Amino acid sequence: MFNKLRARMLSLQFRAIRRAVIILIAKIPKDLERAIIFGDALNHFLMMSPFRQLFKFSIPKNIKVKVHDLTFDSPLISASFKDDVSSLFQWQLIGIGGITYKTVLRIPSEGNLRPRIQEVKHGGNYAILNSLGLPTKGVIRFLPKINNKKLIRFNRPIGISIGGNSFEEYLSVFSEIDDHINTIDFSKFFYEINISCPNTDDGKCLSDDLESLKKLIIKFRNISSRMIVVKVSPDSNNEEVLKVCAILSNIPKTAINIGNTKYVKASDVGLSSKTFSKKGGGLSGKSLYSNTLKMVKLIASNYDLPIIATGGVSSYDNVKELIDNGASLTGMATLLVSDPFQIPLINYRLSND
Ligand SMILES: Cc1cc2nc3c(=O)[nH]c(=O)nc-3n(C[C@H](O)[C@H](O)[C@H](O)COP(=O)(O)O)c2cc1C
Repeated sequence: MFNKLRARMLSLQFRAIRRAVIILIAKIPKDLERAIIFGDALNHFLMMSPFRQLFKFSIPKNIKVKVHDLTFDSPLISASFKDDVSSLFQWQLIGIGGITYKTVLRIPSEGNLRPRIQEVKHGGNYAILNSLGLPTKGVIRFLPKINNKKLIRFNRPIGISIGGNSFEEYLSVFSEIDDHINTIDFSKFFYEINISCPNTDDGKCLSDDLESLKKLIIKFRNISSRMIVVKVSPDSNNEEVLKVCAILSNIPKTAINIGNTKYVKASDVGLSSKTFSKKGGGLSGKSLYSNTLKMVKLIASNYDLPIIATGGVSSYDNVKELIDNGASLTGMATLLVSDPFQIPLINYRLSND
């Protein structure tokens, strides 16, 4: 009872502070990234201070989910979109059942020019449009971060998202990471292959060659016995998604994540060349939910494959509906930056089902 009240109070405070920060530092000139940089610094300070205890919520024992050989303490997991330890640590404190690092590419890249991330209205909801362009520190600088005791101590699954601009790049990033994590005394890592990249001018995927995808997953499977998730784009049609499922269903210990951000033209959500450096970007948030549910139903009725339902998940009702329709886990990004204290509240409601 006390914990629910505490989560509700923190949720109110968080949303008020977030709105104030956006109004004060991200409106003129309009650039949400400025608010994110400020918010990350504030969060880092909080997570280093004794105040972090305020964020601590235990996960009820009866909502664990097993996917292949991994046990997630809750079906709520963080989608791949951040890699700073303070954020990943905070979400675990709050009660997320597993985390996923932001996609890693081989070579360091700054991503696209700013402004490249904005808060927008879509379908009557607040949403985020980003054209970050997969900024990455590169695999060499990522490796030493993986064995992070603060994160590993929670003993919850940790996903590593692999990206690439070619078959060879995916394979080389994967091999370097796999060699490294085999030296770490922690058995709950899994891999996610990010095959979509909506942050280009035309929204084309980095990899939409399914024959190569199949070859790649088989290569990964031969190298590692850890779970492999393939994350598809919501821009993929039913047939394309089912083809990916057909490939996965013949390869052991795989799962599908539906999905990434959805490509939208910047002008369609009220942005101009002054407020967004690319012609379009990846939309995230509540507007994606109906497609996520539709895809979960489609996959669950055709394949016996673990599904991570990502895209627009923002409430207990969403999580319950997705699980009832066949999802094993629900991934979240936008909710974690807009109202993270929903996590303990959703966990508590799930434990009473
Ligand atoms: C700022 C931002 C950065 C993202 N970066 C990645 C990424 O590196 N790799 C990836 O697979 N997905 C990335 N995503 C997509 C999210 O993981 C998630 O699939 C998407 O936002 C839909 O979920 P949501 O509606 O809960 O936000 C990013 C999303 C946002 C908003």
